[in-house]
Amino acid sequence: MKESSSTTAVDTLASRAIASIAPRRRRILHDPFARSLLPAHWLVPKFYFWQARFNPLVYPISVLIADLVSPGGVLQIALRHRHMDECLARAIRDGVRRIVILGAGYDSRCMRFRTDGVEFIEIDHPHTQNAKHRRLDRINGGPVPGVRYLPIDFCGDWAADVAREIGATQHPAFFIWEGVAYYLPEEAVRYTLAAIRRCSPAGGRIVFDMFPRGIADPACADPVLRKMRRYGERHREHFQWGCDRSEMPGFLAECGLRLDSTITLREYADRLRADEGIRIGDAAVLARLYNVEASW
Ligand SMILES: C[S@@+](CC[C@H](N)C(=O)[O-])C[C@H]1O[C@@H](n2cnc3c(N)ncnc32)[C@H](O)[C@@H]1O
Repeated sequence: MKESSSTTAVDTLASRAIASIAPRRRRILHDPFARSLLPAHWLVPKFYFWQARFNPLVYPISVLIADLVSPGGVLQIALRHRHMDECLARAIRDGVRRIVILGAGYDSRCMRFRTDGVEFIEIDHPHTQNAKHRRLDRINGGPVPGVRYLPIDFCGDWAADVAREIGATQHPAFFIWEGVAYYLPEEAVRYTLAAIRRCSPAGGRIVFDMFPRGIADPACADPVLRKMRRYGERHREHFQWGCDRSEMPGFLAECGLRLDSTITLREYADRLRADEGIRIGDAAVLARLYNVEASW
């Protein structure tokens, strides 16, 4: 990770802010905190997004601009986030009492899913977490009450510190690791998947997203993955690891986890179209990026 807060995390936040101003029949995601969490110097885009309530062109123009920044920018972020929201809601319904958000960035789930008796822990790189605290100070007067924040570099030796800090729990925990794993070297991904098993007894679950191997291969011929790689290079947050969907069960088994399901964002979009009639556009990246649910 570079020596400053993550700027890809600001992009994903902006995508959620744009997704939230979609007209109702196109709306995949509503994150009411996304716009206010944007950096103070994003005053002009913030004002522009606010105008969506009067001006129907604001949403499509914002989507077009986001697509220029990264392929399918708004769709891929809104779909992966919405699917993970569904996994989280199910975990809470099933009685999970500890939610850990790894590489949280400007995630607002601890506010959106606040539930009596459910504890939220956010883990992130210290630079990004500090930047989030500054924003929360501005909009909220301080960190979200009851949430524990742990500054961690996933590339370090952090498992024992986190296990000690958050303490043992007899109930299985639920982990979300969104938009992070492919920015890390494979050893750090394996280490993280082993570390979370130290923080929750059997029955723990995780949801994360993944690109195919080509995302980390400079010689990859897939034009969509090449564009994504250039996106990472521009941010100096390089894609370092990817795993084909067909290889995921074996990879997880080596890490001591069981694969519960995988779904590409295109498959998930088809499901939302069929079940809820949401009008969702298409973007080639949706067939590449997939969400993984696993447990132990
Ligand atoms: C693309 S952002 C995703 C943020 C958020 N999960 C989301 O989906 O909006 C990548 C996140 O990974 C975190 N990250 C990247 N490398 C890291 C590392 N070595 N240690 C800890 N966090 C890291 C960044 O701080 C950032 O919050």
